[in-house]
Amino acid sequence: NKRVKIKELLTMQPDGQEVTVMGWVRTFRNNQFIALNDGSTNTNLQVVAGLGEFDDSLLKRITTSASLKVTGTVIPSQGKGQKLEIKATAIEILGDSDAEKYPLQPKKHSLEFLREIAHLRFRTNTFAAVFRIRHSLAFAIHKFYHEKGFLYLHTPIVTASDAEGAGEMFRVTTLPFDNPPRNEDGSINFKDDFFGKSTNLTVSGQLEGELGATAFGEIYTFGPTFRAENSNTARHLAEFWMIEPEMAFCDLEDNMNLAEEFIKYIIRFAMDNNREDLEFLASRLAEEEKQLPADKRSEMGLIEKLEFVVNNNFERITYTEAIDILLQSPAYKKKKFQYEVKWGIDMQSEHERYLVEKHFKKPVIVINYPKDIKAFYMRLNDDGKTVAAMDILAPGIGEIVGGSQREERIENLEKRMKEMHVPADDLWWYLDTRRFGTVPHAGFGLGFERMVLFVTGMTNIRDVIAFPRTPKSAEF
Ligand code: 4AD
Ligand code: MG
Repeated sequence: NKRVKIKELLTMQPDGQEVTVMGWVRTFRNNQFIALNDGSTNTNLQVVAGLGEFDDSLLKRITTSASLKVTGTVIPSQGKGQKLEIKATAIEILGDSDAEKYPLQPKKHSLEFLREIAHLRFRTNTFAAVFRIRHSLAFAIHKFYHEKGFLYLHTPIVTASDAEGAGEMFRVTTLPFDNPPRNEDGSINFKDDFFGKSTNLTVSGQLEGELGATAFGEIYTFGPTFRAENSNTARHLAEFWMIEPEMAFCDLEDNMNLAEEFIKYIIRFAMDNNREDLEFLASRLAEEEKQLPADKRSEMGLIEKLEFVVNNNFERITYTEAIDILLQSPAYKKKKFQYEVKWGIDMQSEHERYLVEKHFKKPVIVINYPKDIKAFYMRLNDDGKTVAAMDILAPGIGEIVGGSQREERIENLEKRMKEMHVPADDLWWYLDTRRFGTVPHAGFGLGFERMVLFVTGMTNIRDVIAFPRTPKSAEF
């Protein structure tokens, strides 16, 4: 008998055919009914181990989380809510489990507790649903760009540059910690380091992505990125995944259109392919929100929210308009914002959330930010004060996308780099794209975990990445 996955089995007819399934015991009731789960779906398979048909010594070993191989016949279920069940003819214990010591008791555990046993949390319905959806979204991302003819470019994890110029990098070195070689002025001499220079983990694949776009036309990256920013929030990770498309012959408007189409496409894909898991998470969220005061609850359920997002245009405003909205808001007048609001500020999450959650109540694309708060590579607008940047803000999340049209004019780019102390010598290869056949081009980065948060309705970014890395925390 070939093994059948439970998800597939549940779609079959209860016609008495014989099958083999394997999985982990969730519960074992009345010494007779096994709820078996194999990770393919949250719906447990009911296995009936007929009383008297199996040895007591075997039945004793059917404990929560023990792994089993079961062969049996597919019959109509007697119980409600399920079409079929398996009447076991043979049960083999693959692995015993001491249920007393098993940390996951068959009851509701808090997400905080589950974060402490992150090595086992995939075995809960909540995390199983989240990670199946995460998988689907990743697949949809490749599907979207493949269908559009973008080339998947594998940009390096170890780099010698700081793409964002923010200095939030993890260093990569093989030099000894206790006594590294030093220059005469006392600074560390990286000449003897593995790469012969100072290197770090990438913060973004964008600069290398631009090399690809100015040859292939359209590329995207999808890989891990690393930031040593000490932000201990529910939205920041030190290691997160980013999708970065980069397009030649493309301006800010095209960039916005692509980002909006892309986000809607992958949400729709999850809605079409992960219905059961989304419904599970939607009811979980509704249950959680019952604990909140009425004004803190979402106006829409999870699925309703996703439907709304794919069926409506994102709002598009300039940074200057965003600041005006904030200055005229009741929240500002009643001094509800903790941080200052005036033209030139880097908007704080309270400001972004006001715009999307209170004012527009939908995703918002904000463009044309002041040049002083954005990276060196963004294209200077004709006003000389703003750059062709775009951030997409999402309800419940805040910034989900950051992108821009790139500065393709070498004089402007070199001037910005000087002003912002970005070492031009290290980026000679980047500047070559502007020297040899420069073209207008644009791109953006979507934070994958923030996207997964949005789709699953989870609230802490640590709960949508398998092995979270945050300040003072890197288990595994
Ligand atoms: O806005 P960021 O810093 O933009 C860039 O890195 C550009 N090079 C992208 C590009 O134009 N190709 O980051 C992009 C997105 C953010 O909008 C956010 O969703 C996510 O990456 N992000 C993080 N997600 C989790 N934890 C962090 N510490 C993050 N920092 C950024
Ligand atoms: Mg950003």
